Parts: sequence; structure tokens; C-alpha cells
Amino acid sequence: MKLSAKFLNNDELSPKVDYNHDLNFLGDESSFAFGVEVAKVEASKKFPQIYKFHIGDTGPKTPEPIIEVAVQALKDKQTKYAHFIGFPQVRENIAKYWTATRGVKIKKENILLEPGGKPAIELALQALVNKDDEIIVQNPSYPIYASLSSFYTHKKPLEWTAYQNPDDKTLEFNVADLEKILTENKNIKLLFLNTPQNPTGMMMGEEKLRQVAALAQKYRFMVVFDDIYDQITFDGRKHFSILSVPGMLDFTINLNGCSKNYAMTGWRLGFIVAPEWLIEIFGQLAVNKWSCVSRVYQIVAGTIFGDVDIDGFHYPSVREKIEPILQADLIEYEKKGKFVSEALDLLSPFILPNKPEGAFYIFPNIENILELKYVSDVLKIKNDKDFSRWLLQEKGIAMIPGSDFGSAGSGYLRLSYAEDREQHIIPGIKHLLLTILEIIEKSEINPPLSASQLDQDLKKIEEKYFL
Ligand SMILES: Cc1ncc(COP(=O)(O)O)c(C=O)c1O
Repeated sequence: MKLSAKFLNNDELSPKVDYNHDLNFLGDESSFAFGVEVAKVEASKKFPQIYKFHIGDTGPKTPEPIIEVAVQALKDKQTKYAHFIGFPQVRENIAKYWTATRGVKIKKENILLEPGGKPAIELALQALVNKDDEIIVQNPSYPIYASLSSFYTHKKPLEWTAYQNPDDKTLEFNVADLEKILTENKNIKLLFLNTPQNPTGMMMGEEKLRQVAALAQKYRFMVVFDDIYDQITFDGRKHFSILSVPGMLDFTINLNGCSKNYAMTGWRLGFIVAPEWLIEIFGQLAVNKWSCVSRVYQIVAGTIFGDVDIDGFHYPSVREKIEPILQADLIEYEKKGKFVSEALDLLSPFILPNKPEGAFYIFPNIENILELKYVSDVLKIKNDKDFSRWLLQEKGIAMIPGSDFGSAGSGYLRLSYAEDREQHIIPGIKHLLLTILEIIEKSEINPPLSASQLDQDLKKIEEKYFL
């Protein structure tokens, strides 16, 4: 981390203020930092519109029945402190839902409410990790795991690096590679594991998760199992939770919440499912940090999973009302993901998209674009970071460089297709493809198809999904 706060680096300040040197180990979350750059370009009015594929936020807005619960709770003056771990009934509702969907008995004592899903990452580290412990993160993965791991251990975490499929350049995680790390290193305390995955939009299937679970039990490490996108899965794929493997409740810190599944990112409402002894520690940490999740939001969380009665007020479950809304949102995500993947595929092998499986990301390989003469010699673009910057600054297209998610993401871009279809996804993908076509032509290479053919083919894909 580069500290930029002026007062910290100002030698003339008296008395001199020093800062926590551990901050030198802290990283960043690329989509937030990148968003600042996008806002600058947008404010410059250089382009009539910026096509936004960088945002890890949900496209749809929070379903109305959820908002109504919050409004009602406020009108009922539910404004005081709330239970620090979460009201028992709220946790009971979540526990019942988890028991039903994970096929393992979860009790309310296994649940803690938190402000967003993210705090679980730091809670896990604070509760379990000492400086000489090792942590494993997937490479590529959500950057906060590595950032906070370094902050707490003063070293880079070990990396379970994805293997690049030589044919289509998709990234896959081999469990044998994880086992190699486990046999070669000592003091492994935690593995951060995420499915459906940010940034790739790929899912880890039951077989692999069972193998990872067996390793956790054999080598005795905890898995921070982040399935915050668990309900956003396509083609009828069912998310498999590592908690479903017998005995894994003892080895799992399950990060989940309302942000992505219920389009509630800005509410900051999440929860953790973990062994009772850890929930006790997390509760103590929570009291030290945020006291409790807001009472209104606790009530909201409870009604997503069942009825809630607090202080003489009754809040009926919104589950049945929100189900059709969520279903429609899911269909829209799936259509947009498939549209983007098939559209990008028109310019393969220059851009090689993976097939979207879940979440709302796609992680196309762009190595063949980076090798084009015009790109390397004229534009002087060397890597995915340069290309992403050029796309934003010169073409008004915002996409995050894959290497922001780890070295294995080098040569890729992360596209989020959560934004509005008509305003961003369809015209933005067309603009991107025409840009790539232009680069190919300027490199004096025959493009896979002409601009007019591209236009026709794109229309067909658009009709296939959106008519
Ligand atoms: C994989 C993953 N985990 C956790 C989070 C954080 O979720 P929340 O917004 O609920 O804190 C995100 C947000 O982008 C994410 O992509």
C-alpha cells in the first residue's frame, strides 16, 4: 500500500505523527479504486457515455417487499441498539434455511450477523491467525483475502494458482496443486475459497469441494468458504456448499449475506455460519468493533428467511413475495452473461471468453490481443493493466485488469455484466468488439469477420436472448 495521506509524510508537522507500519502490507479492492478513475474520465466529458463493466455491484435494485419491511420497522421506531450477535429469532430463521439448503444441522448458535459479508474475512484472521501462520488464497481471487492476510501475517499468502487450459485458456483449480502446497508448507491455518467465483464467474463443483474438504480434515485447517453469490447460478446448476460434507461445520467459516443474492450491497447486511466456539469469539470481536448490526436491518434479514417478532411487533416473512422477483433477476443475469460470452466469442481467438456459470462476471483471455503488432508497437500496451487503462482513457470502456486479482489473472480482463442491458451491456460489448476489430486490422491481420458481419451476428445473439 502506498500511503498518500499528506500529514503522514509531512516532515514539518509537529509533533510528528507516525502510522501503523502494518499498513504497508495492506492492499486494495480494485473495483473501488478503479471506480475513482472511471468517475474522473466520466467527469471530463470526453465520451458521451462510459460503458461500465467494472462494477461488482448488482444490476437490479432491492426487491420492494424487503424495502417495505425496513420502512415499517423504522415507523415502528425500531431504532435502538440490537442484539450484538443477532436477534435469536433472526438467527434461528437463517439457521433453518441453512439446514434445509445445506443438508446439515445448523443452529442459531452457529450464526452471527455482520455489516456486509466482508467483515468475515477480517474476523477469521483476527480470531485464528498468528504471525507465523500461513494462509492460502486462490489465484486469481477476490483481492481482499490476500490484502488482509498480508496485513495480519506480514507476508504474502500462499497461492493456489489456477491452471490455464491450453485450448480455451479458461482457468481451473486442480486439487492436486492444493495438496502440494499443504505437503510443502507448515502452519497452514486458513484457506479462502470462493464459489461462484469473483473474478472468473466459474463454479467449483461438488466433487472438487469434497476433495478440498477431505484435505481440510486431513491437514487440519479452516476453510473460509465464501459463497456470497450462491443463488446466482446458471443453466440449472446447483451450488454445492462445503458445509454439506460430513464434519465440515467444524472446519468452515461460511461468509454469506444479502448483498448479491438479494441486491442489497449498499445495506451492508451479511452473516457468518461457523462453529459455536468461533461465533463466540466473533461476537466478542463484533462488540469491540461495531456493537451490533442495525436493528432495522436485523429485522429485514430475519424476514428474508421467516417471520420475525421483535418488541411486540410482527414482521411476516417476505420469502414468497421476493421469490418471483429474484427469479426474474436471475434470468436476466443468465441472459446477459450468455450474451456477453457468445458475443466475445465472435472475435476468438483474439478474445477468449469463458462460459458464465454463476455470479455476474466473465473473465476473457486477451493475450492474443496483447501480442498484436499495433497494440505492442504503436499503442505500447504491454499487459492487461495497460490495455484496461487504454480502453478506459481512449475508448470509454471500463473493465478491470485480470492481474488485479492475482498473477494468474495476467492477460485477462474481468467484465461484470451486472449493469443495465440496454444502456451498458449491449452497446458496450459492440463498442468493445469494434475496437478490437480495428486493432486487428491496424495490425495488418485478417480479422475473423468484417464489421458488417460482426454487426449482423451480434444482432442475432441479441435476438436470441432478449427478444
Ligand atoms: C467474493 C466476494 N466476497 C465478498 C464480497 C463482499 O461482500 P459484501 O458487499 O457483502 O461485504 C464480495 C463483494 O464484491 C465478493 O465479490
